[in-house]
Amino acid sequence: MLNNLNSIANQASKLINLATRKNIKTKTKLLTITSGKGGVGKSTFTANLSYLLSAKGLKVVVIDADIGLANMQVLFDIKPKFTMFDYLDGTCKLKEAVVATKYKNIHLIAGKTGHEYASKTNSFVFTKVIDDTLALNYFDIILVDTGAGLNRYVREFLSISDHVLALTTTDPSALTDVYSLMKMLSSQKEKLLLCFNHTKNYQIGETISGSLIKLAQKNRLNKDFMVEYIGNVSTSSNIATTARLRKLFAKEFDDDEITKQMKVITNYILRHIM
Ligand SMILES: Nc1ncnc2c1ncn2[C@@H]1O[C@H](COP(=O)(O)OP(=O)(O)OP(=O)(O)O)[C@@H](O)[C@H]1O
Ligand SMILES: [Mg+2]
Repeated sequence: MLNNLNSIANQASKLINLATRKNIKTKTKLLTITSGKGGVGKSTFTANLSYLLSAKGLKVVVIDADIGLANMQVLFDIKPKFTMFDYLDGTCKLKEAVVATKYKNIHLIAGKTGHEYASKTNSFVFTKVIDDTLALNYFDIILVDTGAGLNRYVREFLSISDHVLALTTTDPSALTDVYSLMKMLSSQKEKLLLCFNHTKNYQIGETISGSLIKLAQKNRLNKDFMVEYIGNVSTSSNIATTARLRKLFAKEFDDDEITKQMKVITNYILRHIM
């Protein structure tokens, strides 16, 4: 009984938070990258996507929303003085938590390794960071890199994002997780963008996306919900090498097949989101 009441109170508090979100007038788009299964390559993908978007002249800010594990600052090879949590705690201003990277037109709002935010509140805490970043009206796009799973942090970012991109591999457990994500999003969103990592060619991703869509139809998920396949990235040792050197493969291997594949995805985002 008490558990039920608590859960109702939590839901109510979340709904109130969403309902009272500011009506923000901004040019800034918001794209959340998620997967369900961990380790499929989200952070690597997000960092390189940010580079390719910035190379097209966009002002990009990446938010490291993998609560408890701060990977992005490693990928960008920077040591931010302030993180998202310093802003949420009131220790710094938003502009201090938005740190420049060594890449032109890419900023980072960093996470904090080992940070635990869970027990402090039941309400939507991260919405504030997103809304205040949108309200800056400075960036063209916010890329949110979420952690593994569909925990409440990830759900919070998903619920406030107009655009969601799921990255998966062809691994059965990754596909099961991405289908769970489709199920969850089908009642709240119009569309999910789907990308395949560790996938040799475009057609493989396209075929498996088709099977996921058929399964959704068979199981009568909301028929207005669209899953759109937008591209694949192959497995490449260049990715591990550049990560070890704390560099971005899209910059170091401009002509490589994987960078070309990432550019197909980047162009989709430029055409359909921006
Ligand atoms: N296409 C690829 N080819 C080769 N290695 C890759 C590829 N994509 C990612 N990796 C490697 O896989 C590992 C996991 O990648 P990454 O940390 O980006 O995954 P993640 O989905 O963000 O993980 P988590 O769920 O823990 O946040 C890293 O070592 C990365 O260099
Ligand atoms: Mg990650």
